[in-house]
Amino acid sequence: MATFILGISAYYHDSAAAIVCDGEIIAAAHEERFTRKKHDPNFPEHAIRYVLDEAGIRFDDLSAIAFYDKPFIKFERLIETYHAFAPKGLTSFLSSVPVWIKEKLFMKKMLRDEFKKFSDKKIPVLFPEHHLSHAASAIYPSPFEDAAILTIDGVGEWATTTIGHGTGNQIKMVEELHFPHSLGLLYSAFTYYTGFTVNSGEYKLMGLAPYGNPDSAQTKEFKRKTLETLVDVREDGSILLNMKYFNYATGLKMTNNSKWTELFGLPPRNPESEISQDYMNMALAIQQITEEIVIKLAESAKKLTGSDNLVMAGGVALNCVANDKLIEKGIFKNIWIQPASGDAGGALGAAYCGWYMWKNEKRTVNPNVADEMRGAYLGPQFNDNQILGMVRKYGGKYTYYENFADLTKVVAGKLKDGNVIGWFQGRMEYGPRALGSRSILGDARNPEMQKKMNLKIKYREGFRPFAPSVLEEDVNEYFKLQGTSPYMLVVMPVQDKHIKPLPANYNDMEMYERLYHLRSDIPAVTHVDYSARIQTVSKKTNPRYWELINEFKNQTGFGLLVNSSFNVRGEPIVCTPDDAFRCFMRTEMDVLVVGNFVFDKADQKELVNDTNWKEEFKLD
Ligand SMILES: [Fe+2]
Repeated sequence: MATFILGISAYYHDSAAAIVCDGEIIAAAHEERFTRKKHDPNFPEHAIRYVLDEAGIRFDDLSAIAFYDKPFIKFERLIETYHAFAPKGLTSFLSSVPVWIKEKLFMKKMLRDEFKKFSDKKIPVLFPEHHLSHAASAIYPSPFEDAAILTIDGVGEWATTTIGHGTGNQIKMVEELHFPHSLGLLYSAFTYYTGFTVNSGEYKLMGLAPYGNPDSAQTKEFKRKTLETLVDVREDGSILLNMKYFNYATGLKMTNNSKWTELFGLPPRNPESEISQDYMNMALAIQQITEEIVIKLAESAKKLTGSDNLVMAGGVALNCVANDKLIEKGIFKNIWIQPASGDAGGALGAAYCGWYMWKNEKRTVNPNVADEMRGAYLGPQFNDNQILGMVRKYGGKYTYYENFADLTKVVAGKLKDGNVIGWFQGRMEYGPRALGSRSILGDARNPEMQKKMNLKIKYREGFRPFAPSVLEEDVNEYFKLQGTSPYMLVVMPVQDKHIKPLPANYNDMEMYERLYHLRSDIPAVTHVDYSARIQTVSKKTNPRYWELINEFKNQTGFGLLVNSSFNVRGEPIVCTPDDAFRCFMRTEMDVLVVGNFVFDKADQKELVNDTNWKEEFKLD
């Protein structure tokens, strides 16, 4: 009888479930995709039902359930934090204690109660620690027998950063940095101060950094003041934060705003206000500091393990600009990063812990695959009958293509003509990035594409860059990347031959003029600093997406597309054909492709003009 282990992450942010069968990943998904509540932190009942279904088993068939956190250690941290900062934190302590007592201290019981929704059978419940779960999600699916493991995030129980060593099925934790000293929380504090949402806006802060001016006195001052006053960075990459400037240990806000204003001579940015150069410079300053710390940590990991390979997970591992700097440094021969590096990925790591640590099963690396993640296509898929169910529900007009090659010809032609396409194929992605299963696509050469996708489709900030999906074999034609980047975790410069020179008055232009300035012949995916966040598409892992891009290349000579996640601002990535159709109708997307069905917006006129439809799908 096969051994099925269910992994769960829940109750913090971004709940998820994953299932591993005899050491192989069967399925993994974020709860938010089912409940349509972004970063849903609740018990992932829907995701669990889905992964059980995908595995073709009942709850009773599980050998164990692994939860990505150790609840009691966390409670201890809260008590100790309170004592260390008393009496300052009394109010917040008192207000948070009932939640913790109710939800965290009795987490085991809470989980047991939730499990009763599935069955009364008592299944063993395992509690690997938070950072061990991240570490497991990094090493076990990686292509390495032996690797240094670096996990960096906000905070787990006590640990905020860990260095470990993975060999075979073993993970040995070598070093730990403890709360409140946290690179993730430092980055989140700047995210908060620059007016973005903590836990999800970090990505926007990273996107803003290239607009900072590296030569300006202000950027240098921000950096100097941060390093002198806010954070002490040691040679080994460990950090010590000056807690007089941070409120997260005791209060409900990230930063002590009056102290920060005094230090930087700049007030916190109002979330929806125009972003001035000051905040771009601030974003650049903290981004550079983050990169320096990550590199120091990697150097320590190298020294402590002597390994040629590095694997990473934890929220900070999603900082692909820092990853790029790390690759450039060449500290390790090979680097592999878990695509679901946030807390959702802890579900997969926990399930792996069950198999390799609790069951103590032997681990062998399969030389025939790039890694064990199956391209991160680990979520639900839908057959033609299910798609027809959606058609019946909404009355959408479509063309069905028996032959997929015919479909790619039509869709590539539409892309070439400047249309924006919703592309829904196969299994949904696990992790925060859309990788060509639930994506919105456009022509990267089109000078209007960035504006159109940002403003008319995604309803989001204009400065945010788009990422290219490029045929794996063509990546070097467009980008200075050696090797592959299947999970969009690496940022690399655009090749010189595609770059256009800047006009003489460029530095005098306003930010938005600079943003829309065409700096290459693939402007929609060329960032202000001439870099791009790349996804390489393999024929092996995503044949349908590969075929579409290849057909686009046949028609245009360019083997790449703009790839953005299939959702609008504030909404989780679409999961079902229903979600996709609704998103298609409420935006100015031109064409929707679901499996072999193609829906043209021009054919949906009756639906578009239906007032009820507009009511139902108006934006939040
Ligand atoms: Fe985490």
